[in-house]
Amino acid sequence: MIRICPSILNADHTNLSSEIARIADASDILHLDVMDNVFVPNKTFTLQESMAIIKNSPIPVDSHLMVADPDVVAVEYAKVGSASVTFHWEASASPSETLKAIRGAGSRAALAVKPGTPFSSVRELLSELDMLLIMTVEPGFGGQKFMVDMLPKIREAHEAILELSGPRPWLQVDGGISLETIALAAEAGADAFVAGSAVFKAESPAAMCQQLRELATHSQVK
Ligand code: DX5
Ligand code: ZN
Repeated sequence: MIRICPSILNADHTNLSSEIARIADASDILHLDVMDNVFVPNKTFTLQESMAIIKNSPIPVDSHLMVADPDVVAVEYAKVGSASVTFHWEASASPSETLKAIRGAGSRAALAVKPGTPFSSVRELLSELDMLLIMTVEPGFGGQKFMVDMLPKIREAHEAILELSGPRPWLQVDGGISLETIALAAEAGADAFVAGSAVFKAESPAAMCQQLRELATHSQVK
């Protein structure tokens, strides 16, 4: 199953609800990029602002926390209704506890790794995850180029996920996903795709989601 997750990072923030309405029917999950200007050199939505977006979103929201203190704030994002909360392994002193707290608050729990972090760092945690996010750009900004050198890491994660005896976490990619790159990521084993500029710069964001879905579906590894 393929999941298309548009990121509103570079959508029109003065008119977010109509931007979200444009992709709601064609996508699965709204990807909300939360940045604190500490973990990454950029700042986006506060908890208060995120709450309003989550409350009004017609589709489930995944909060992607690019913050320095996920062990404190991740559970807050779960409590305000995120369908899933994704935080960075690099920023967490106790990922296992934070994953449990997110699930305890009723959300799906996901861990993200930056391009420089090897898959081996999170391998042991796989069985505790509902989703693993492999960043395919340095987190912080939209519109960057997909890093093809992340493909072996995606493949490695996919193979490890197949070996799990229990439920299998989704494998998500984020950064530079477009009509040119989505098939590469799907062939390597990704099944959830964040796309920001490709979707919101398109004339028809919904048609773009549909095209991305078709490409990913045809390229997905079995
Ligand atoms: C980058 C964010 C991404 C970003 C992706 O740090 O995590 O979600 O919005 O944007 P594109 O698809 O333009 O690379
Ligand atoms: Zn993101």
